[in-house]
Amino acid sequence: MRIVLVGPPGAGKGTQAERLTKTLSIPHVSTGDLFRANISQGTELGRLAKSIMDTGKLVPDEVTIAMVKDRLQHADTENGFLLDGFPRNTAQAVALDEILKEFGIALDGVLDLEVPEEEVVGRIAGRRLCRNDSQHIYHVIYKQPAAEGVCDECGGELYQRSDDSEETVRTRLEVYHTETEPIIDYYRKQGLVTTISALGTVDEVTERAIAALRENA
Ligand code: AP5
Ligand code: ZN
Repeated sequence: MRIVLVGPPGAGKGTQAERLTKTLSIPHVSTGDLFRANISQGTELGRLAKSIMDTGKLVPDEVTIAMVKDRLQHADTENGFLLDGFPRNTAQAVALDEILKEFGIALDGVLDLEVPEEEVVGRIAGRRLCRNDSQHIYHVIYKQPAAEGVCDECGGELYQRSDDSEETVRTRLEVYHTETEPIIDYYRKQGLVTTISALGTVDEVTERAIAALRENA
């Protein structure tokens, strides 16, 4: 199954992607995680990405598209993939269509996570990530680790993302409305979009997501 997951910052894309990709046995391809891996490895791409991510704006299309194309050529994507955080504007959506066409494949569905802005602000403010694995996601209220500041799964140190500051989150939300939301219409015209509510517990959202994908993708 080839899926795009879309939704505002803090909607729970990373949280749901980790669960959905386990259930569907497909890799989780997150552009945010790929950039963060480059940042922690100190690559040139990482340095460029960090300077932009800390402002809340988008990393240039050219480098982002090239990074995704490269990732989709790995053997593990043969049976599908879940894209999280990409595409993020119409130019990236058009580029993805071209890449998939070149590979002779197509998307099965786009899952749109809908959540009110006041909820995402609270989710982002309390988010903590594991230094060893950015798929280990916690929240100071909604998903507390057994020991404060320590990942339950691997013992890694938990930290707060530098782009989760109030000011940067405001820009990320603006960028989502102006640049990313239009891709929902772009995919709706292709009959690919299912919108679900991302409110409720993590388990409830996962159940809704799996039901939607079974029905529509
Ligand atoms: P990216 O890493 O993609 O961030 P984002 O889209 O802003 O999304 P988040 O990671 O903030 O949120 P999420 O929806 O994954 O929520 P999560 O599951 O963590 O992008 C970061 C930056 O990278 C961008 O600003 C840009 O600069 C750059 N970038 C990335 N992709 C790009 C692209 N394609 N082009 C150009 N630039 C790009 O959940 C949030 C919190 O809520 C967690 O604490 C979690 O525990 C909690 N939570 C989750 N679900 C629930 C629930 N149901 N109830 C209560 N709490 C919950
Ligand atoms: Zn961990």
